[in-house]
Amino acid sequence: MRRVHTLSILFLSSLIIPTFASPRGSRDVQSPLAMGSPAVGDHPVSGGVQRYEGEKVWRVRLGDHDMARRGAVMEVFETSGMDIWHVTSTTIDVRLDSSTTPNDLLHTYLHPATTFEPFINDLQSLVDSTSNNNDENDTPTSSSSSSSSSSSSLMKSKNGKNKQDPFNLTTIDTPFHDTYHPVQDLYKFGDKLVETFDGIKGIEVESFEIGKTWEGRKIKGWSAKMVKDETIKTKLADGPSRRKGGIADGVEREFVVQSGQHGREWVGPSSAFYFVHSLILNALSDPSSDAALLLQSFTFTVVPLLNPDGYTYSREHSRMWRKNRQEVGSKSCVGIDLNSNWGYKWRYPKSVSACSDSYPGKESFEAYETQAMAYYLGNGTERGTKVRAFVDLHSYGQLFMFPFAHSCEDFPIDAEMLMEAGLGVAKAMRTKQGEGYEAGQACDLTYRAPGDAIDFAYGVTDIRWSYSAELRDTGTYGFMLPPSLIRPTADEITAGLMYLAKFIYVAEIAD
Ligand SMILES: *[C@@H]1O[C@H](CO)[C@@H](O)[C@H](O)[C@H]1NC(C)=O
Ligand SMILES: *[C@@H]1O[C@H](CO)[C@@H](O)[C@H](O)[C@H]1NC(C)=O
Ligand SMILES: [Zn+2]
Repeated sequence: MRRVHTLSILFLSSLIIPTFASPRGSRDVQSPLAMGSPAVGDHPVSGGVQRYEGEKVWRVRLGDHDMARRGAVMEVFETSGMDIWHVTSTTIDVRLDSSTTPNDLLHTYLHPATTFEPFINDLQSLVDSTSNNNDENDTPTSSSSSSSSSSSSLMKSKNGKNKQDPFNLTTIDTPFHDTYHPVQDLYKFGDKLVETFDGIKGIEVESFEIGKTWEGRKIKGWSAKMVKDETIKTKLADGPSRRKGGIADGVEREFVVQSGQHGREWVGPSSAFYFVHSLILNALSDPSSDAALLLQSFTFTVVPLLNPDGYTYSREHSRMWRKNRQEVGSKSCVGIDLNSNWGYKWRYPKSVSACSDSYPGKESFEAYETQAMAYYLGNGTERGTKVRAFVDLHSYGQLFMFPFAHSCEDFPIDAEMLMEAGLGVAKAMRTKQGEGYEAGQACDLTYRAPGDAIDFAYGVTDIRWSYSAELRDTGTYGFMLPPSLIRPTADEITAGLMYLAKFIYVAEIAD
């Protein structure tokens, strides 16, 4: 999900805004509008777990009269500490407590014809009905015994019918892909990929660590490729197109899928693991498949969980947690919004609280996680690769977006190619299960947001094929996508990523 921090002075100046402009140095002060806002600590907590009793998520539909003021409206939500879930060109989804409506907050700013409707009426019951594996504990110190007990709970999880071992990776039907998992089980799955497939029929799989989080968890990645076979070699024979994209001979193209910047967006990490698993299985089962051709043409890397601290916090304490868990010099609030912290056209917003869900840090790459990933992306040469594609998975909204996010005026030179490929990806995803996905420029489809990962990837590290995806859904469950929808979602994005890799192959590699 994309957030905004830009103060639209032009529009704001024409509006009456309550006094929440806190002086520098006291940014934690919440605005008067923040009554009932979801700031940390405002919530009933039971056994260390935050409750969302009676909270609603509203969809605000901006009328034509509001469009010019959209920036100002966003700013009101933002500075008053509202939890904005998703923004499109005509709607804003926002979470409020049971006694507040968007009207209470915004009647001053919005046209009377603006409509609001709650699409989630009782957040807590949705959280309850869509959680799984609640008995699991995923603290970094948990021992291997807790990991094996969680495995056995997984085996029982399908009403005792499915006795399959989730960590038997020989089939894509493993029950692993039907539930959400604590960090140690996700990482265990990644390590099983290496154990199961590395060295089999020319497949090479390796795991690596790109850095550590604030709380000391490992940020891990997995790479897969396949030794070229003779027929493929012929196809890739030297020709004028070999050097398209300015890649020198002997340098491998790397296709990077990142996910989990935002703690509460659980379906992203699950989908990233599914993608690489599916790719390897398909390449093994049919050496003439697209999967095999692509694995011989690219090194596919997944960093499925960039923010394991925030993910764990979302699982254990506060389902709606978005940021990392880094201390930021505030007494009351922690955490940096990773997807506002990347170092391209980064700027410190005029009005922001450390309590805000979109707090971008005091400077770019203050977050351990973004810094570690930026180094990884920038250091391809050391690995003998050139990162050519970068796809950052989020939820929700069903979008596939290219740069830039920071401004709608800044258009990439490759915009036409990026749009063409993006439309094909969206179509490939739609074709899979009939779910609609939209393609376009990030800023245009959501809202301008500086410090975004895809802007950095494209603007600084020269990764031409840079995209972010908002996976399912369009708001029915929002972040609480039920486990039964993990597999269809993962299957869709897998089709989309395969399409993108093929598009790049045709554009840059094939004769
Ligand atoms: C994994 O599952 C397959 C069948 O789905 C089975 O043949 C194989 O023995 C299993 N492997 C292990 C290690 O249990
Ligand atoms: C490569 O990584 C190192 C740290 O491991 C970092 O100091 C360096 O700046 C990185 N290079 C690029 C181009 O990002
Ligand atoms: Zn997100």
